[in-house]
Amino acid sequence: MKSNVAEILKSGTVLQEIALKGWVRTFRSNRFIALNDGSTINNIQCVIDFENTPEKTLKRITTGAAIAVKGILAESQGKGQSIEVQVSEIEILGDSNPDEYPIQPKKHSFEFLRENAHLRVRTNTFSAVMRVRSKLSFAVHKYFQDNGFNYVNTPIITGSDAEGAGEMFRVTSFEDNKAPVTEDGKIDYSKDFFGKETNLTVSGQLEAETYAMALGKVYTFGPTFRAENSNTTRHLAEFWMIEPEVAFMDLDGNMDLAEDFIKSVLAYVLENCKDDLAFLDQRLTQEESKLPQAQRSEMSLLEKLTFVTDNHFKRVSYTEAIDILRNSKPNKKKKFQFPIDKWGADLQSEHERFLVEKHFKCPVILFDYPANIKAFYMRLNEDGKTVRAMDVLFPGIGEMVGGAQREERYDVLIEKMKAMNIDEKELWWYLDLRKFGTAVHSGFGLGFERLVQFTTGMGNIRDVIPFPRTPQNAEF
Ligand code: 4AD
Ligand code: MG
Repeated sequence: MKSNVAEILKSGTVLQEIALKGWVRTFRSNRFIALNDGSTINNIQCVIDFENTPEKTLKRITTGAAIAVKGILAESQGKGQSIEVQVSEIEILGDSNPDEYPIQPKKHSFEFLRENAHLRVRTNTFSAVMRVRSKLSFAVHKYFQDNGFNYVNTPIITGSDAEGAGEMFRVTSFEDNKAPVTEDGKIDYSKDFFGKETNLTVSGQLEAETYAMALGKVYTFGPTFRAENSNTTRHLAEFWMIEPEVAFMDLDGNMDLAEDFIKSVLAYVLENCKDDLAFLDQRLTQEESKLPQAQRSEMSLLEKLTFVTDNHFKRVSYTEAIDILRNSKPNKKKKFQFPIDKWGADLQSEHERFLVEKHFKCPVILFDYPANIKAFYMRLNEDGKTVRAMDVLFPGIGEMVGGAQREERYDVLIEKMKAMNIDEKELWWYLDLRKFGTAVHSGFGLGFERLVQFTTGMGNIRDVIPFPRTPQNAEF
């Protein structure tokens, strides 16, 4: 017997007996229940024999209630569905008081739903987003597993700040006001749980590198924490990052990998999440129809996704990008908040978005950035001023991927660390990789939520992770 709505709708075989459990989305005319069990965006219509159903039971069929039905699958007389369940038995498993239940069958604002994040997945939009998120996760593992990568679990508690940006959450077991202090009045972390200062990881890269230098091809896929106080639609304090790292691969190989990987996972969900993506596509088109013409996208969501899978990413050096930006209309008309005047400027998201959305109109890989705006571990180019860094920029998102060829030369790395005030003693093990069997290697980090945002067309990163962690918010 088919046991969920997705399977039943797919099979479409009428006259079979079925039993289903799910939640009531709507109940109208004391007869028609739209039932959803989470297996698909589609509800199944369950028709009640209301003359033979006790009044008391009918009253308990309310939006949000959990029910079990048994009946026969039949061709539907009504519009909007081809098959329906003619219910012979109904049981109310869990009531839902309509006066108190926040999720009514009407449009709720995303702000309101964020405050009810424990219930929002019961709406069409959020259930679609979260099913796509799950399939994307699977596609990530599938891609790497199919291509000979090993999954590595790097530590969540660490003593290092891989990115050197100092945006870390401290981990301590000291009790309030009871932390021991040293003679000069500082907190004495040598007496803390780990005997040293520790924090939640900002990236698993440095540890992943150690594994790439033995297993060849590895990837991480885990939670990452950043205490950056950015209240934007693209930043979370807790997000999931995917970090492949490959021995004997240079920056060109890294760019090829990033492009192939993104295209492959998008192709997977295009093939395996058709109903959810069709729904999200319509949702976005509807949302955008309320905007002035100039602010609407030129492509629908599905068109954007196929555009990415079918076209080459444009590869542009930082130096070329600066030339384009310097001579761009918004720069000349002083429309950028951060005007670009000389080489060496750090690119802001307004610049990245100009490049992908206005200038190239496709995903762009920028490479060879100035050394002093990038992390210490990136390989120095022959020019002595740029490093083998790459960022993959996406329309509507900005930076989706950040990566690099790593500095594999011991002497160059040490010098770089000194110049950037990175503690050599803390990273003795990272330096060891350059002493014992060092080799060219590269990798990147992809922010999983930004990928989910792009795939689902959701405007705010808080709406693509079940329980977002952002400044001033850790509810649930
Ligand atoms: O560019 P980032 O900082 O690079 C690294 O952490 C490298 N260690 C990765 C590597 O080479 N293995 O971060 C990588 C990606 C960004 O491109 C972005 O997509 C995402 O992580 N990201 C965030 N996503 C959500 N919220 C935040 N606060 C993010 N910070 C970075
Ligand atoms: Mg970055």
